[in-house]
Amino acid sequence: KKGNFEHFMQKEIHEQPDSLTMTMRGRLIRGEQKIKGVLLGGLKDHLKTIRRSRRIIFIGCGTSYNAALAARPIVEELSGVPVTMEIASDLIDRQGPIYREDTAIFVSQSGETADTLQALEYAKSNGALCVGITNTVGSAIARGTHCGVHINAGCEIGVASTKAYTSQIAVIIMLALALGDDSLSTQQRRNAIIDDLYNLPNKVRDVLKLDKDMKELAALLMEEQSLLVFGRGYNYATALECALKVKEVSLMHSEGILAGEMKHGPLALVDETLPIIVIATRDASSSKQQSVIQQLKARKGRLIVMCTEGDAESMCPDRTCRLIEVPQVQDCLQPIINIVPLQLLAYHLTVLRGFNVDQPRNLAKSVTTQ
Ligand code: UD1
Ligand code: M6R
Repeated sequence: KKGNFEHFMQKEIHEQPDSLTMTMRGRLIRGEQKIKGVLLGGLKDHLKTIRRSRRIIFIGCGTSYNAALAARPIVEELSGVPVTMEIASDLIDRQGPIYREDTAIFVSQSGETADTLQALEYAKSNGALCVGITNTVGSAIARGTHCGVHINAGCEIGVASTKAYTSQIAVIIMLALALGDDSLSTQQRRNAIIDDLYNLPNKVRDVLKLDKDMKELAALLMEEQSLLVFGRGYNYATALECALKVKEVSLMHSEGILAGEMKHGPLALVDETLPIIVIATRDASSSKQQSVIQQLKARKGRLIVMCTEGDAESMCPDRTCRLIEVPQVQDCLQPIINIVPLQLLAYHLTVLRGFNVDQPRNLAKSVTTQ
C-alpha cells in the first residue's frame, strides 16, 4: 500500500499534487466570459446564512486548527465577517459564548475527534449554524453538522497529518471565495486566486523537488535539542504547523512563534547555537520579516530562511543563512506551498533520528478520548 515509499507519511506528503486535485475536482468553475467561481455542493443553500452571520468561529484541534488559522485571513477579507478561532478543548473548558447568529465551522480530518465533537454538541445546543469540514464521509462530525464540505483528500494513514492539512486549507479558501461571490469589488482578486488554485498541484509538484535539500538540512539539524520557527500573517500557521510536525514525529522540541511577538520574549532565546527557521515568502508582511531576519542576525542567530525564488539576495544579503526557495503563488495559497518542504524536513529528521514515523510514541491517529 505504500508503493515506492518507505512510510505512509512520506507517501502522503508526495501525494499532495493528487490529493489537492481531488479536493478541487468539480468545484472550480472557469465559465464563459471569464466568469470564475467555486461550487461547494454541500454549502450552496447555506451561503446566505453564513454571509449574514455575526461571526464565523473555526473550531478544531492540532493540525486541523492550524489549517483554519492559515485560511482565516482570506475568509475575513472576502466575507467581511469577523472570524475567531477556537481550540475545541479550550472552548469547552471556558464554555465560551456562542449564539444563534454565529456560524461555527468544525475542521477535522477524522471527523471523530472527541473534543471537536463535544464542541459541536455545545454549539448546536446554543443554536449556531454548524458546518463541517472533514475528510471522512459518514463520520460523526459529517453526520452531526447541519451542512459541510468533504475535503476528499483520500484516506490518511500516517498519524502526522500532511495531505489533509493542505486540502483543508484549500477547502476553506474555496469557502472564502464562495462567500465573497456576491461582491463585484473583489472579483479580480477572486479570479487571481482561482487561477492559482488551478495551477496549485503543479506548484506543489515543483516544491516536492526540494526533498533532497530537506534531507540535507535534516542531517545538519538531527543532533539539535530545539528548533524555533518564526512566521507571521498568512504563514503564522505555517510556523505552528512546522513545529507541530517536528515535535510530533521527530521528538525534537520545536516552537512556532508569531514573529510580531519576537521582542516580547522569544528573542532572549537567540544565540549562535539555536537553529531558527524564518518564513519570509513575498507578501504584505515580508518587509517586516526582512527586518526580523536582520535583528536575529544581529544576535548571531543560526538562520534558515524560507523565501520566494529570486529573493535570496534581498532576504539574506550577506549569504550567511541557509535558504529554502519556493515558488510564488497568491498570498493566501502560499501556506499550502510553504508547508511542503517543512513536512519533508520533519519526515527526514525522524528517519535520521531513528524514530517511528507513522506511529509516533504516545499518539493515536484519531483522538477519541478526552
Ligand atoms: C457530492 C457527493 C459526491 C458527488 C457530488 C456530485 C457525497 C459524500 N458527495 O459532493 O460524491 O460527486 O455531490 O455533485 O455523496 N456534509 C455535512 N457535514 C460535513 C461534510 C459534508 O453535513 O462535515 C454534507 C454536505 O452539506 C452535503 C453532503 O454532506 O449535503 C455531501 O458533501 P460533499 O461531499 O462535500 O458534497 P459535494 O461536493 O456536492
Ligand atoms: O482528525 P482531526 O483532524 O480532528 O485530528 C485533530 C488532531 O488530533 C490532529 O490534527 C493531530 O494534531 C495530528 N496528529 C497532527 O499531525
